[in-house]
Amino acid sequence: MNSTFEFTLDLAHRAGDMIAELRRHEPLERDYKGGIEIVTQADIAADALIAREILAAYPSHRILSEESSPDLGRVQDIEGPLWIVDPIDGTVNFAHGLNQSAVSIAFVDNGQIQHGVVYNPFTEELFAAKRGEGATLNGARIAVADEKRLDRAIIATGFPYVKTGLEPMVKRLGAVLAQCADIRRLGSAALDICFVAAGRLDGYYESLSVWDYAAAQLIAKEAGAIYGHFGDVPEGEDTQFYSSDILVANATLYAPLRALLRAAS
Ligand code: IPD
Ligand code: CA
Ligand code: CA
Repeated sequence: MNSTFEFTLDLAHRAGDMIAELRRHEPLERDYKGGIEIVTQADIAADALIAREILAAYPSHRILSEESSPDLGRVQDIEGPLWIVDPIDGTVNFAHGLNQSAVSIAFVDNGQIQHGVVYNPFTEELFAAKRGEGATLNGARIAVADEKRLDRAIIATGFPYVKTGLEPMVKRLGAVLAQCADIRRLGSAALDICFVAAGRLDGYYESLSVWDYAAAQLIAKEAGAIYGHFGDVPEGEDTQFYSSDILVANATLYAPLRALLRAAS
Protein backbone atom coordinates (compact mmCIF):
# COMPACT_ATOMS: atom_id res chain seq x y z
CA MET A 1 0.00 0.00 0.00
CA ASN A 2 1.17 3.55 -0.77
CA SER A 3 2.13 5.89 2.06
CA THR A 4 -0.22 8.80 2.85
CA PHE A 5 2.38 11.05 1.20
CA GLU A 6 2.39 9.15 -2.11
CA PHE A 7 -1.39 9.00 -1.93
CA THR A 8 -1.48 12.82 -1.55
CA LEU A 9 0.89 13.42 -4.48
CA ASP A 10 -1.29 11.29 -6.72
CA LEU A 11 -4.53 12.86 -5.47
CA ALA A 12 -3.27 16.44 -5.94
CA HIS A 13 -2.28 15.53 -9.52
CA ARG A 14 -5.67 14.02 -10.27
CA ALA A 15 -7.62 16.91 -8.74
CA GLY A 16 -5.35 19.38 -10.57
CA ASP A 17 -5.90 17.62 -13.90
CA MET A 18 -9.62 17.76 -13.26
CA ILE A 19 -9.74 21.52 -12.64
CA ALA A 20 -7.51 22.20 -15.66
CA GLU A 21 -9.83 20.08 -17.81
CA LEU A 22 -12.94 21.82 -16.47
CA ARG A 23 -11.48 25.22 -17.25
CA ARG A 24 -11.06 24.24 -20.88
CA HIS A 25 -14.83 23.90 -21.08
CA GLU A 26 -16.19 27.43 -20.98
CA PRO A 27 -18.56 28.72 -19.79
CA LEU A 28 -17.68 27.75 -16.23
CA GLU A 29 -20.65 27.60 -13.91
CA ARG A 30 -20.06 29.97 -11.02
CA ASP A 31 -21.78 31.19 -7.91
CA TYR A 32 -21.05 33.77 -5.21
CA LYS A 33 -20.85 32.54 -1.60
CA GLY A 34 -22.47 35.14 0.66
CA GLY A 35 -23.02 37.17 -2.49
CA ILE A 36 -19.28 38.02 -2.59
CA GLU A 37 -16.91 35.06 -2.73
CA ILE A 38 -16.70 33.34 -6.08
CA VAL A 39 -17.00 29.55 -6.27
CA THR A 40 -17.06 27.58 -9.53
CA GLN A 41 -18.30 24.13 -10.44
CA ALA A 42 -14.62 23.08 -10.51
CA ASP A 43 -14.13 24.02 -6.82
CA ILE A 44 -17.10 21.81 -5.93
CA ALA A 45 -16.09 18.94 -8.23
CA ALA A 46 -12.46 18.88 -7.05
CA ASP A 47 -13.55 19.07 -3.42
CA ALA A 48 -15.89 16.10 -3.95
CA LEU A 49 -13.20 14.07 -5.73
CA ILE A 50 -10.63 14.68 -2.99
CA ALA A 51 -13.06 13.92 -0.14
CA ARG A 52 -14.31 10.76 -1.85
CA GLU A 53 -10.80 9.42 -2.45
CA ILE A 54 -9.60 10.20 1.08
CA LEU A 55 -12.61 8.52 2.66
CA ALA A 56 -12.26 5.48 0.38
CA ALA A 57 -8.59 5.06 1.34
CA TYR A 58 -8.80 6.17 5.00
CA PRO A 59 -12.40 5.77 6.21
CA SER A 60 -11.61 6.72 9.81
CA HIS A 61 -9.81 9.99 8.97
CA ARG A 62 -11.46 13.39 9.20
CA ILE A 63 -11.50 16.03 6.47
CA LEU A 64 -11.54 19.80 6.80
CA SER A 65 -12.26 21.13 3.33
CA GLU A 66 -13.20 24.60 2.17
CA GLU A 67 -16.24 23.68 0.09
CA SER A 68 -17.74 20.59 1.77
CA SER A 69 -16.62 20.62 5.41
CA PRO A 70 -15.24 24.01 6.48
CA ASP A 71 -16.63 24.03 10.05
CA LEU A 72 -14.93 21.50 12.28
CA GLY A 73 -14.00 24.03 14.96
CA ARG A 74 -10.41 24.68 16.04
CA VAL A 75 -7.98 22.38 14.26
CA GLN A 76 -5.91 21.94 17.40
CA ASP A 77 -8.97 20.44 19.16
CA ILE A 78 -9.58 17.79 16.48
CA GLU A 79 -8.38 14.34 17.50
CA GLY A 80 -6.96 11.73 15.14
CA PRO A 81 -5.64 12.04 11.59
CA LEU A 82 -6.98 15.05 9.69
CA TRP A 83 -6.80 16.17 6.06
CA ILE A 84 -6.96 19.90 5.33
CA VAL A 85 -8.01 20.65 1.76
CA ASP A 86 -8.39 23.67 -0.47
CA PRO A 87 -9.62 22.23 -3.80
CA ILE A 88 -8.69 25.41 -5.64
CA ASP A 89 -6.63 28.11 -4.00
CA GLY A 90 -6.76 31.10 -6.31
CA THR A 91 -10.35 30.70 -7.49
CA VAL A 92 -10.60 34.28 -8.74
CA ASN A 93 -7.56 33.64 -10.96
CA PHE A 94 -9.03 30.31 -12.05
CA ALA A 95 -12.36 31.88 -13.02
CA HIS A 96 -10.59 34.68 -14.92
CA GLY A 97 -8.27 32.44 -16.91
CA LEU A 98 -5.17 33.46 -14.95
CA ASN A 99 -2.82 30.57 -14.31
CA GLN A 100 -1.93 31.18 -10.67
CA SER A 101 -4.08 28.65 -8.82
CA ALA A 102 -3.48 25.33 -7.13
CA VAL A 103 -4.85 22.33 -5.29
CA SER A 104 -3.68 22.26 -1.68
CA ILE A 105 -3.75 19.16 0.54
CA ALA A 106 -2.20 18.81 4.00
CA PHE A 107 -2.16 15.81 6.31
CA VAL A 108 -2.13 16.35 10.07
CA ASP A 109 -1.41 13.59 12.58
CA ASN A 110 -0.35 13.67 16.21
CA GLY A 111 -1.10 17.40 16.24
CA GLN A 112 1.51 18.20 13.56
CA ILE A 113 1.35 18.84 9.83
CA GLN A 114 3.06 15.70 8.53
CA HIS A 115 3.06 16.49 4.85
CA GLY A 116 1.79 19.08 2.44
CA VAL A 117 1.31 19.20 -1.32
CA VAL A 118 0.44 22.24 -3.47
CA TYR A 119 -0.05 21.55 -7.18
CA ASN A 120 -0.61 24.11 -9.94
CA PRO A 121 -1.85 22.13 -12.97
CA PHE A 122 -1.50 25.14 -15.30
CA THR A 123 2.24 25.43 -14.79
CA GLU A 124 2.63 21.76 -13.81
CA GLU A 125 4.49 22.77 -10.67
CA LEU A 126 4.14 20.52 -7.67
CA PHE A 127 5.47 21.77 -4.33
CA ALA A 128 5.71 19.15 -1.61
CA ALA A 129 7.15 18.54 1.82
CA LYS A 130 7.33 15.79 4.35
CA ARG A 131 7.96 16.80 7.94
CA GLY A 132 11.71 16.71 8.65
CA GLU A 133 12.66 15.77 5.08
CA GLY A 134 12.92 19.10 3.24
CA ALA A 135 10.77 20.66 0.55
CA THR A 136 10.73 20.03 -3.20
CA LEU A 137 9.46 21.51 -6.44
CA ASN A 138 8.80 18.77 -9.01
CA GLY A 139 11.13 16.55 -7.02
CA ALA A 140 14.09 18.97 -6.77
CA ARG A 141 15.04 20.48 -3.40
CA ILE A 142 14.05 24.11 -2.83
CA ALA A 143 15.27 26.70 -0.33
CA VAL A 144 14.37 30.25 0.64
CA ALA A 145 16.20 33.18 -0.95
CA ASP A 146 19.13 34.67 0.93
CA GLU A 147 18.15 38.32 0.37
CA LYS A 148 19.29 40.32 3.36
CA ARG A 149 18.09 43.81 2.49
CA LEU A 150 14.54 44.89 3.05
CA ASP A 151 14.88 47.56 0.37
CA ARG A 152 15.63 44.81 -2.17
CA ALA A 153 12.94 42.42 -1.00
CA ILE A 154 9.83 41.54 -3.05
CA ILE A 155 6.92 40.95 -0.72
CA ALA A 156 3.59 39.32 -1.56
CA THR A 157 0.29 39.75 0.22
CA GLY A 158 -3.43 39.40 -0.41
CA PHE A 159 -6.76 40.85 0.63
CA PRO A 160 -10.00 39.35 1.93
CA TYR A 161 -13.20 39.10 -0.08
CA VAL A 162 -15.10 41.15 2.50
CA LYS A 163 -14.18 44.80 2.15
CA THR A 164 -14.56 45.90 5.75
CA GLY A 165 -11.67 46.97 7.97
CA LEU A 166 -9.45 47.86 5.03
CA GLU A 167 -7.72 50.73 6.83
CA PRO A 168 -5.03 48.75 8.71
CA MET A 169 -4.34 46.71 5.56
CA VAL A 170 -3.81 49.83 3.49
CA LYS A 171 -1.54 51.24 6.19
CA ARG A 172 0.61 48.11 6.19
CA LEU A 173 0.68 48.10 2.40
CA GLY A 174 1.97 51.69 2.45
CA ALA A 175 4.70 50.81 4.95
CA VAL A 176 5.85 47.75 2.97
CA LEU A 177 5.79 49.68 -0.29
CA ALA A 178 7.87 52.45 1.27
CA GLN A 179 10.49 50.18 2.86
CA CYS A 180 10.74 47.20 0.50
CA ALA A 181 11.58 46.93 -3.19
CA ASP A 182 8.06 46.06 -4.38
CA ILE A 183 4.80 44.24 -3.69
CA ARG A 184 2.99 41.42 -5.50
CA ARG A 185 -0.67 40.35 -5.20
CA LEU A 186 -0.63 37.10 -7.12
CA GLY A 187 -3.97 35.69 -5.94
CA SER A 188 -3.13 32.31 -4.39
CA ALA A 189 -1.93 32.33 -0.81
CA ALA A 190 -0.76 28.70 -1.03
CA LEU A 191 1.41 29.51 -4.05
CA ASP A 192 2.63 32.77 -2.49
CA ILE A 193 3.95 30.84 0.49
CA CYS A 194 5.46 28.16 -1.78
CA PHE A 195 7.12 30.95 -3.79
CA VAL A 196 8.79 32.18 -0.60
CA ALA A 197 9.88 28.57 -0.02
CA ALA A 198 11.36 28.43 -3.53
CA GLY A 199 13.15 31.80 -3.21
CA ARG A 200 10.99 33.53 -5.83
CA LEU A 201 9.58 35.92 -3.25
CA ASP A 202 11.35 37.25 -0.17
CA GLY A 203 8.35 37.51 2.12
CA TYR A 204 4.61 37.13 2.40
CA TYR A 205 1.96 38.28 4.89
CA GLU A 206 -1.84 38.03 5.12
CA SER A 207 -4.71 36.78 7.31
CA LEU A 208 -6.13 33.54 5.93
CA SER A 209 -8.20 30.39 6.55
CA VAL A 210 -6.45 27.18 7.55
CA TRP A 211 -7.01 25.44 4.19
CA ASP A 212 -5.16 28.27 2.41
CA TYR A 213 -1.90 27.72 4.27
CA ALA A 214 -1.72 24.29 5.98
CA ALA A 215 0.18 22.51 3.18
CA ALA A 216 2.26 25.53 2.16
CA GLN A 217 3.27 26.23 5.76
CA LEU A 218 5.13 22.94 6.02
CA ILE A 219 6.68 23.46 2.57
CA ALA A 220 7.97 26.89 3.67
CA LYS A 221 9.32 25.64 6.99
CA GLU A 222 11.02 22.68 5.34
CA ALA A 223 12.61 25.07 2.82
CA GLY A 224 14.15 27.07 5.65
CA ALA A 225 11.61 29.88 6.01
CA ILE A 226 10.53 31.37 9.29
CA TYR A 227 6.76 30.98 9.46
CA GLY A 228 5.01 32.99 12.17
CA HIS A 229 2.76 35.95 12.86
CA PHE A 230 3.29 39.68 12.91
CA GLY A 231 0.38 40.12 15.33
CA ASP A 232 0.17 38.57 18.78
CA VAL A 233 -1.00 34.96 18.93
CA PRO A 234 -3.51 34.61 21.78
CA GLU A 235 -2.46 32.35 24.63
CA GLY A 236 -3.57 28.75 24.18
CA GLU A 237 -3.62 28.95 20.37
CA ASP A 238 -1.44 26.50 18.43
CA THR A 239 0.68 28.77 16.23
CA GLN A 240 0.55 26.20 13.41
CA PHE A 241 -3.18 26.75 13.02
CA TYR A 242 -3.56 30.39 13.96
CA SER A 243 -4.83 32.14 10.84
CA SER A 244 -4.48 35.88 11.52
CA ASP A 245 -1.50 38.05 10.63
CA ILE A 246 0.63 35.32 9.07
CA LEU A 247 4.19 36.26 8.09
CA VAL A 248 6.65 34.12 6.13
CA ALA A 249 10.19 35.15 5.19
CA ASN A 250 13.78 34.05 5.32
CA ALA A 251 15.58 34.10 8.66
CA THR A 252 17.22 37.51 8.03
CA LEU A 253 14.17 39.39 6.81
CA TYR A 254 11.59 37.92 9.18
CA ALA A 255 12.36 40.18 12.17
CA PRO A 256 12.60 43.51 10.30
CA LEU A 257 9.46 42.71 8.31
CA ARG A 258 7.61 41.80 11.48
CA ALA A 259 8.68 45.05 13.12
CA LEU A 260 7.61 47.01 10.05
CA LEU A 261 4.16 45.38 9.94
CA ARG A 262 3.62 45.76 13.68
CA ALA A 263 4.54 49.41 13.59
CA ALA A 264 2.04 49.96 10.78
CA SER A 265 -0.80 48.01 12.47
C1 IPD B 1 -7.92 33.02 -1.53
C2 IPD B 1 -6.53 33.17 -2.12
C3 IPD B 1 -6.07 34.60 -2.09
C4 IPD B 1 -6.11 35.18 -0.69
C5 IPD B 1 -7.49 35.01 -0.08
C6 IPD B 1 -7.92 33.54 -0.13
P1 IPD B 1 -9.46 31.09 -2.56
O1 IPD B 1 -8.33 31.67 -1.53
O2 IPD B 1 -5.60 32.38 -1.42
O3 IPD B 1 -4.76 34.75 -2.55
O4 IPD B 1 -5.80 36.53 -0.74
O5 IPD B 1 -7.44 35.46 1.25
O6 IPD B 1 -9.25 33.42 0.39
O7 IPD B 1 -10.74 31.78 -2.24
O8 IPD B 1 -9.00 31.39 -3.92
O9 IPD B 1 -9.47 29.64 -2.22
CA1 CA C 1 -7.93 29.45 -0.56
CA1 CA D 1 -10.56 27.72 -2.43
